[in-house]
Amino acid sequence: MENQKVQIFDTTLRDGEQVPGCKLNKEQKLKIARRLDELGVDVIEAGFPVSSPGDFEAVEAIAKNVNNATVCGLTRAVKNDIEVAAKALRKAKKPRIHTGIGTSDSHIKYKFNASKDEIIERAVNAVAYAKTFVDDVEFYAEDAGRTDNEFLAQVCTEVIKAGATVLNIPDTTGYCLPEEYGAKIKYLTENVIGIEKAILSCHCHNDLGLATANSIAGVINGARQIECTINGIGERAGNTSLEEVVMILRQHPTLGLDTNVNAKLLNEMSRMVSESMGMLVQPNKAIVGANAFAHSSGIHQDGVIKNRETYEIIDPADVGVNESSIILTARSGRAALAYRAKKIGYELTKLQLDVVYQEFLRLADRKKEVIDDDVHRIIEVSKIGILV
Ligand code: KIV
Ligand code: ZN
Repeated sequence: MENQKVQIFDTTLRDGEQVPGCKLNKEQKLKIARRLDELGVDVIEAGFPVSSPGDFEAVEAIAKNVNNATVCGLTRAVKNDIEVAAKALRKAKKPRIHTGIGTSDSHIKYKFNASKDEIIERAVNAVAYAKTFVDDVEFYAEDAGRTDNEFLAQVCTEVIKAGATVLNIPDTTGYCLPEEYGAKIKYLTENVIGIEKAILSCHCHNDLGLATANSIAGVINGARQIECTINGIGERAGNTSLEEVVMILRQHPTLGLDTNVNAKLLNEMSRMVSESMGMLVQPNKAIVGANAFAHSSGIHQDGVIKNRETYEIIDPADVGVNESSIILTARSGRAALAYRAKKIGYELTKLQLDVVYQEFLRLADRKKEVIDDDVHRIIEVSKIGILV
C-alpha cells in the first residue's frame, strides 16, 4: 500500500522568527522561502502581515516569488488582520489565510473576557470573512492543548461549516503528553461533524521537550499536516523540528506516512537558517547537530568502522552530511586511531600502532580532542624512535 502524505507546514518565518534577537530582513526571508520551496515543504507560513509594514512586505515578496508551496499569512480573528493578509497574499499562486482564536478556559477568560458562544461566533465570522478572499482557510484553536475536547470539537464543527479547509490544533504552551495529544486528535476525527472536508494539523511547542513526540502522536491518530520549523526554533523552547518529523516518518515506513521533503537538503537548510538568524544549533541536536553523526567512544568507533549500521540508524548522506566522523578522544581505541591515521596517509603496522597509541593517549588525556595535525606530529616523532 502506498504511503499517505503528511503535509509539511513550515513556520520558520513566522513562529520561528518570534525568537528574541533573531529578526530577519526581507531579503533574508525571501532567500529562506525560496530554499524551503526547493526543500519540498507544502506550505510556507511567511509571516503575520498586520504586525508590521516590514512583515507585510516580506509576505508580499514571498507570495510573489514562491512557485510550488502554498504561501500562508497569519491573522487574529479580526477583520482588519484578514484584509491585510489577503492583500499581502494577492500575488500568491496558492494563498492561504491562517486565522483563529484562543479556545482554552484561560484564553477565553483572561484574553477575551468572553463566553464560549462568543468565541464560536468570532471564529466562524473570521473564517467566513477570510473565505471571501481565498478558498484555502486554515483555522487555529489557540491553546487547543489545554482546551476541553468537547468544546474544541464544537468549535471545529462550526468553522468547517463556515469553510475552513484545515483545522490547526496547537499545543501552544507545550503542555500535552503524546498519549493525550494523540487522543485529542483521535477524538476530533470521531466527533467533529464534517471532518472529512478538512484536514487536522499538529502545531506543537516544545516547553517540555515533547513537540516532536506530540506531532508524531498526532499524525498516527489521523492528523495529516505538521507545523514545524527548521532547527525547531520558535517561541520559548521552540516548535516541532521539521528535520526530526521528516526523518522519523522516513525511518519508520511501517507507519505508512511520508512527506514531500527532499531530506538531502536538510543539513544545508539548517545551516542557512542558523547563519541567517545568528542562532547556533546545539551540537547534540538530532539530525542536524554537529555531533549527530560523530562518534567518540572506542566501542562505538570500532563498531562504526566495521559497519556504520552498528551505531547509526540514518545514513548521513540521506540528510546531506558527507560522512560520519570519528572524533579522537581519550576514550578512542586503536581502531579509531588507525582509521584517522589512514585518512591522512599513514598505513600503520601493528607495532607502529602500539607505539603511536601510547603517545596518543598521553596527549588525549591533556586535550579534549586530538586533531589530524596532532596525529601527524605523533606519528612523525614516533618514527624516529621506532625507525620506521
Ligand atoms: O502556538 C500557537 O498557538 C500559534 C498559533 C498562532 C497558530 O502559533
Ligand atoms: Zn505556535
